Amino acid sequence: MAGKEVAVLWLLAVLGWGSGGKVLVWPADNSHWLNMEYILQELVVRGHEVTVLLPSCFLILNSTQPSPFQFEVVDVPITKKEMATLLEEAFYFWFYQERALSVWASLYRIAQLVYKLENVTKIICDEVLKNEALLERLKASTFDVLLADPLAPSGELFAEKLGIPFVYTIRFSVGNTVERLCGMLPAPPSYVPATLSHLTDRMSFLERLKNIFSFTVQDIMYHYLVWGSWDQYYSDVVVWPTDASHWINVKVLLEELVLRGHEVTVLVPSSNLLIDYQDTSSPFTFEVLQVPFTQKTLHAAMEDFLNFWMNEVSNVSPWKIMWKMKEDLEVFTNMSKQVCDTLVMNPQLIAKLKQAKFDVLIADPLSAGGELVAEILAIPFVYSFRFSEGNVVERLCGGLPSPPSYVPASTRGLTDQMSFVERLQNFLFYFYMDLFFLKFWRDEWDGYYSNVLGRPTTLCETMGKAEIWLIRTYWDFEFPRPFLPNFEFVGGLHCQPAKPLPKVLWRYKGKKPETLGSNTRIYDWIPQNDLLGHPSTKAFITHGGTNGIYEAIYHGIPMVGIPMFADQHDNIAHMRAKGAAVELDFSTLKTQDLVDALNTVINNSTYKENALRLSKIHHDQPVKPLDRAVFWIEFVMRHKGAKHLRPAAHHLTWYQYHCLDVLAFLFTCTAIGVFILAKCCLFCCRRCGRIAKRKKE
Ligand SMILES: *[C@@H]1O[C@H](CO)[C@@H](O)[C@H](O)[C@H]1NC(C)=O
Ligand SMILES: *[C@@H]1O[C@H](CO)[C@@H](O)[C@H](O)[C@H]1NC(C)=O
Ligand SMILES: *[C@@H]1O[C@H](CO)[C@@H](O)[C@H](O)[C@H]1NC(C)=O
Ligand SMILES: *[C@@H]1O[C@H](CO)[C@@H](O)[C@H](O)[C@H]1NC(C)=O
Ligand SMILES: *[C@@H]1O[C@H](CO)[C@@H](O)[C@H](O)[C@H]1NC(C)=O
Repeated sequence: MAGKEVAVLWLLAVLGWGSGGKVLVWPADNSHWLNMEYILQELVVRGHEVTVLLPSCFLILNSTQPSPFQFEVVDVPITKKEMATLLEEAFYFWFYQERALSVWASLYRIAQLVYKLENVTKIICDEVLKNEALLERLKASTFDVLLADPLAPSGELFAEKLGIPFVYTIRFSVGNTVERLCGMLPAPPSYVPATLSHLTDRMSFLERLKNIFSFTVQDIMYHYLVWGSWDQYYSDVVVWPTDASHWINVKVLLEELVLRGHEVTVLVPSSNLLIDYQDTSSPFTFEVLQVPFTQKTLHAAMEDFLNFWMNEVSNVSPWKIMWKMKEDLEVFTNMSKQVCDTLVMNPQLIAKLKQAKFDVLIADPLSAGGELVAEILAIPFVYSFRFSEGNVVERLCGGLPSPPSYVPASTRGLTDQMSFVERLQNFLFYFYMDLFFLKFWRDEWDGYYSNVLGRPTTLCETMGKAEIWLIRTYWDFEFPRPFLPNFEFVGGLHCQPAKPLPKVLWRYKGKKPETLGSNTRIYDWIPQNDLLGHPSTKAFITHGGTNGIYEAIYHGIPMVGIPMFADQHDNIAHMRAKGAAVELDFSTLKTQDLVDALNTVINNSTYKENALRLSKIHHDQPVKPLDRAVFWIEFVMRHKGAKHLRPAAHHLTWYQYHCLDVLAFLFTCTAIGVFILAKCCLFCCRRCGRIAKRKKE
């Protein structure tokens, strides 16, 4: 029976893979089509039906020739010949004139060409929208998605009219204006060159000036020349509206690396919370670092930390909290330093590790030291990371762009929809955290790192050398935000399908009773993942740790969150914003609150629906998070790094990064200009006055 079910399911999965999808395409002419065609052919291979809306003037396509696509030809009052002439004119300009002309002449010419192309697009668009029969037919076909090239507008307009989602494929727009202003792609002019400016990511002061100039001129051009005429058009037409937990995660990754035939050596402090280095069945080799502090000291420090955040934090002032945070940081930093010392001051161990010729080092920047060891051994390193307080490490050391207007600083429990006061709070928190950590690192670590490496450096600079940052969240959980090519979001890599559970579970840490029933299983630790994956699980009461939340997302279980410290407030805020959780305040919690919250997430189906939606997003990824994480680690091993993904932002000073030097220069120029103008006017006025006076006399 079970075998049959599996076979049927499998068949469904195979058939269900591609059947039934209907894709509408609004193509761009010429080479743009060639690229799109590859995507469309693959979609057809996977069993989707592809319909191309084809203006009769397009050159590249002939609808009467055999093709795997269906065509809806739109007759337009433009001939293929007129289209060819226009494109030829454009090519002639790019091939022969563009580099010979001055900047202004070139821009003027581009504007002319863009204007002509827009005119043609508008004519084509008119024809489609006038054609009610065609629109009715398209609407009746219930397409699932529209694919368009934003080189020329209108694809998105049809998608809106038909009430279907749309996907863009684009190479670039002039000055990246479309990507930046419409797609919100952050493009700091200090190191992201404007398209067509012929600049690279390493720019001198003059080149950065030129780059800002290109961006500005092209933005203005788009706004006035192109969009100005379309805005009205669009508004008119759219009428049919339509160590601890960190180790658990890293361990899964390391086990996968071992499965793929790599040798994994773990540098483990002799006192730690979760890593059992005496376990002979472990697939890893352990190199034990004999630290001077005991297991008891570590547990006491941890207990003190947890006790404050769980029981005391609600009764003390914000100042006390900040003070306590600093104290805790100092305690853990002191321990980290002692761990580092055991390695740094042990030349035999360093020699032994060097001899082993490791390909890559994997570290979590939450506790410093990993990057230092990688530098000493001269090998590339990869980070596995959840977050730092206020995202300082990711932002300041990794260069991750985080506009405070919509990227909430971690640990404040904010979402991406912030009121003015919240944005103020967010901005100030970023600022405060920057100052706090830059000072803390300078006092505690920068000297240490410089000493060990024998050259002046900082902790942050060393951390910035990470080849890849494997962030332990994903877009099911995270709010959309800008990121860099060397950041991979691999949240949930530890989740697995649930194993079946026995009828009775018992958490019990002792000798197994002899009279134990066969349907009862005893666990040191209840297998949370299997429990959440059980078909009768209705809700998950959680403190909001990332690992647990991901297991709930994986299995689509709504949550009641009782966050306590670290990222837990954030995690629950994310789940609440996405409609999959109810949040409770631990300090004021009453029994009835918990009962009510549980009833809410169980009785009100929206929570379950949202949790299932997140689950579907999580499962529908081109490559599974664990495979992506392993791929990037292996990539770094094969290529001895991933320097091609490293943004040039790391080479800029803060004022260059924000273009403050360029702005200061422009401001000075303007000020001098205004000053000279004012002087001239004054001079003229005086002269005129004098002449007039003389005439009177
Ligand atoms: C399209 O292809 C057909 C057959 O190959 C040909 O007869 C026709 O002239 C072509 N039409 C255009 C406009 O190129
Ligand atoms: C734009 O198209 C109109 C016809 O719709 C035509 O009269 C006009 O000359 C065209 N403008 C340019 C710049 O090609
Ligand atoms: C850590 O703290 C102890 C006392 O609490 C102190 O003696 C020791 O010097 C500190 N170690 C470092 C590396 O700061
Ligand atoms: C919610 O469901 C529980 C049983 O799960 C039931 O006892 C309770 O009355 C329901 N509450 C509401 C408000 O429907
Ligand atoms: C269910 O919860 C959602 C979100 O909190 C709320 O908008 C909706 O009114 C609730 N539905 C019922 C029947 O209580």
